[in-house]
Amino acid sequence: MEKSCFKMFYIMIINILLILKKTDSLNIEGYYWREYAGKVPSDALAGGIDYNGNPIFMGQIFQNGKITPAKIYPDDNKAYYGYGKEHSGTENIKILCSQHPERFVWIKTKHDEIHLLTKHHIVLSGYHPGKTMYFGRVMYGRETSVGKVGAGINENRGLYITQNGEEINFHLFEILTYNETITTQHIDVRAN
Ligand SMILES: *[C@@H]1O[C@H](CO)[C@@H](O)[C@H](O)[C@H]1NC(C)=O
Repeated sequence: MEKSCFKMFYIMIINILLILKKTDSLNIEGYYWREYAGKVPSDALAGGIDYNGNPIFMGQIFQNGKITPAKIYPDDNKAYYGYGKEHSGTENIKILCSQHPERFVWIKTKHDEIHLLTKHHIVLSGYHPGKTMYFGRVMYGRETSVGKVGAGINENRGLYITQNGEEINFHLFEILTYNETITTQHIDVRAN
């Protein structure tokens, strides 16, 4: 009897230690992806603003061996992404979260100049065969929209956003970077 009681106590302590360790590693890493099923967590990072002034969050959707950057809106269980036109999905979605929104910096760049940003930590947002995906944003049609930037060895077409069901391409845009040495509280949610 005493022995099993001790065992339970031991397991409880181990669990608490594991939870503490997990929370701690979240803080160290700076940003992380949470599973998304329709409820935006309080630490989700807003990347844009829609025409009603609501935040647009940044997500990624996994399907057919691809991880595609996507838009997530509050009170909406879908993730929206471009692939020829606008598509949406409700499964296998993650949302970008951080305890340090002030460390995210949007840097102006061009489709064929991403490789010059060697001093910056560009936030990885997905993967397609032969292409690394990042988040980009642009001011378009009364909203600051976020979308995918695919960078490959031979193909750099820049930013693709979706609006009204269509996919739109931009060669000039801002790309999402993370700078862990920033300590100020200035948060920049609107594209210039
Ligand atoms: C990161 O932030 C620090 C502090 O603001 C700044 O000195 C440094 O230049 C930034 N790094 C990059 C790559 O912009």
